Order: sequence, then structure tokens, then C-alpha cells
Amino acid sequence: SMNRPPMDLPRLMAHRGLSAHAPENTLAAIRAAHAAGFEWVELDVQLLGDGTPVIWHDPGMRRCSNGRGKLTKLRLEQAKEFDVGAWFADGFRDERIATLDEALSLLDELNMGLNLELKVARGRDPEALAESAIPRLLEVLPYERRLVSSFSPASLEYARGLADASQLALGILYDSIPRGWEKEVSQLQAFSIHADWKRLKEKRARQIHEAGVALLCYTANDPIAFDKYWEWGVTTVISDDPGRFVAAGISQS
Ligand code: G3P
Ligand code: MG
Repeated sequence: SMNRPPMDLPRLMAHRGLSAHAPENTLAAIRAAHAAGFEWVELDVQLLGDGTPVIWHDPGMRRCSNGRGKLTKLRLEQAKEFDVGAWFADGFRDERIATLDEALSLLDELNMGLNLELKVARGRDPEALAESAIPRLLEVLPYERRLVSSFSPASLEYARGLADASQLALGILYDSIPRGWEKEVSQLQAFSIHADWKRLKEKRARQIHEAGVALLCYTANDPIAFDKYWEWGVTTVISDDPGRFVAAGISQS
């Protein structure tokens, strides 16, 4: 649309940071993506019990830390007690959960771009998350290095209410793309659609591309299987291991 500034996304984006090579959604995973030459990361954000926005995927601590407990039951000082690196590899011992503010500062310092996924777990408040995360993002990163995505339409609506399309690019996350995608894109003035690559069909991909909507695919780690998707007009692959795509001859831009 007229009031949507252009934004050149790279072809390759590191999922949860460079999560094949560092503990997902940590500052170490952001640094690893940068060190490997990737300019953009996808990170998940949600709120702790005390309202602090943190970079984390699951509703609980168990899978990716040495701790336990639901995020909604933890204050920041408690969540910071857990080691979120050693589960992945010994070399990442003593990594701590990153607040959104810490992640944004690092991304700013490294001149990187962020696809921030508003992760609204069951029963959580999409408005509180948007109201906490969006102003921080707008303050730290410039338009062309920020993108907000979510499976939660409500969280995207709140995000849009805080920043219009000239200020903030929004991406709609789908498991599979519904018939009504065009209406949802226009209602949100969305910049992009983020689709599960395994469920994406050629016809739908081409329609989206022809409509001028950016199309990102998650989470693909096999460049050979992904090859035909580029011809369909897919803009970007979100990968745990984007270096595999580089090795297969896909450059970042
Ligand atoms: O944003 C794309 C992708 O991250 C969505 O799935 O579960 O990895 O957050 P998930
Ligand atoms: Mg995600």
C-alpha cells in the first residue's frame, strides 16, 4: 500500500537466533547469527509473571534451562537464576534468559534486523504483550530492521493500534494459509505472510507473491527440498541453520 515503505528482507533469517549452533532465543544465539554472517534473526517474546518481556519460546522453563516453572509464575530475578545455555552445550554454560531490552540493545549494537514473534500462549493476554513489546522495539530499531509477527490476530491488531503501517511492518503467521488471507492482510495492513513451508502450496505462494505481499517460510533446514520455493516467489526462509542454504549456493540477498 501507499503508506508502506519498502523493506528489503534478506533471503535467509536465523530462527530463534542461530539455534542449530547456540541455545535458542539467547544473546549467544544472536551473536552466533551475526558471527556467521546473518543479518536478521527471528526471536520469540512473551511476558514473565512480573510483566518483563523476555526472549523465550515455551510456556515453561524446563526444555531450555536447568530450571522449572511457568513463565507466568516467575519474576525476572527468579528467571535469571536459571542457566539457559548448558542444556545445549557445555560451552554455553551460565547463559541467562535475555530480556527483550537486552536483545534489542545487542541487535542495535550489531546493526541487525529482528523478526519479533509475539508468542501468545493459551490464556495469555495479547494486549499486555503488545503494549509492553512494541514501544521498546519502535524505540531501539529503525523501520527497515524490524518486523513483528504472530499467530495471534489479536496481538497483531493491538500492535497495529500502537504503530501504523508507515511505522511498523507486520507479518501474519499461519500454520496453513486460509482462504481469507487477503482480507486479513488488508485489515491489518500487513507487510508479510509467514507460512509453514511444509503446508505451503505453489498456487497460494504465487498468489501472495503477485499481490505484492512478502512471503516468509518457517522452519526449513533442507536447502534441496526448499529449492522450488524460491521460484514460487518466497522472499525469505527462516531456518535454524541458514548456513546450509549458503553452502547450497543461496546468498543472503
Ligand atoms: O516465526 C516462525 C516460527 O518461529 C513459528 O514457530 O514455534 O518456532 O515459534 P515457532
Ligand atoms: Mg517463533
